[in-house]
Amino acid sequence: MPLVLSVGGGKGGIGKTVITANLGMVMARLGHSALIIDADLGGSDLHNLLALDNSEPGLGELLTGRGHELSGLIKPVREPRLYFVPGDACLPNAANPKFQRKRKLFRDISRLSQDFVLLDLGAGSSLTVTDFFLSTPFTLLVMTPEQAAELNAFNFYKNMVYRLLTPLSRESRGLAAALALFRERSRGPGSQAMLSLLASLDGDTEKQARALLAGIRPKLVLNRLRSIDEFIQARQVQAWADEDLGLNVEIMAFLPEDEVVRESARSGTPALDLDPRAPFCRALTLLGLKLAPHAGKGKQWLEAAESKDSFTRAATEFAAFFPAPQ
Ligand SMILES: Nc1ncnc2c1ncn2[C@@H]1O[C@H](COP(=O)(O)OP(=O)(O)OP(=O)(O)O)[C@@H](O)[C@H]1O
Ligand SMILES: [Mg+2]
Repeated sequence: MPLVLSVGGGKGGIGKTVITANLGMVMARLGHSALIIDADLGGSDLHNLLALDNSEPGLGELLTGRGHELSGLIKPVREPRLYFVPGDACLPNAANPKFQRKRKLFRDISRLSQDFVLLDLGAGSSLTVTDFFLSTPFTLLVMTPEQAAELNAFNFYKNMVYRLLTPLSRESRGLAAALALFRERSRGPGSQAMLSLLASLDGDTEKQARALLAGIRPKLVLNRLRSIDEFIQARQVQAWADEDLGLNVEIMAFLPEDEVVRESARSGTPALDLDPRAPFCRALTLLGLKLAPHAGKGKQWLEAAESKDSFTRAATEFAAFFPAPQ
């Protein structure tokens, strides 16, 4: 069973596609088979980073019921052990597939033979993006170090929690009322934490809701960092998600701003091919090394204890990419 990871984020242009493409290559170079799926329906562009054209049928055809099987869409890439499923090749209406088709997609993904499956999602927290995120136990939320990005990332998680708990609220009027309240309020003074709303519910519903929340393991990646003081944004999102949503967010990696990424976009050559020793590539390789022991066994990772102080671990790793102050 592959370890399935989706890569998303509230905003456009923050590096989701760059990270998915290069992380797939890292996993392949570490000796694992990896499949990258361009799941940015309506905005597929991952093929550019793998120097491929966009003429093959892809996920859009599958999700709009045009008769393809997932296995028939998988194409090998020049990199050994790396495979690719293109996006939607500009199909109309591909961005809002039916729920049943999305469900079948994830059933099919769980039966693939690759060690890792990485899904590059579109920006924002539309229903499709949120459903894709909730269908994969491991989710990498990408954010950049800007103040607006904190709230954006928090709202992404909030949407996720809302979508996760909504089916349960059909059975519980208390939860329905709590969710309605929760939806109205944004983060900030006067906001009511999800956990305190849950506490006011009937015991059974609260237990079920907490079990659902415990089943998602959000991971955070802060991208385009220029200095150590920018770490703080990740810590803020981690604290809010914990206090307000009861989510245990693990900080997986801090990735530096790096010219090699821009050069890669300009030249259509993967960053890892341009310069595997560039800081961005080395930081992604470290992330790949953390994932590698879980190759093909997503379930066990889900059950494994989370790193207690992921912030310090990621910060220590990142510090190695910056020279010591004079
Ligand atoms: N670490 C980085 N260093 C330098 N530039 C970066 C870095 N990460 C991303 N970029 C730049 O940001 C641009 C957008 O990245 P990317 O396409 O991966 O974003 P995205 O989040 O997938 O956007 P969209 O939501 O539109 O799909 C890239 O072309 C690249 O130039
Ligand atoms: Mg993208």
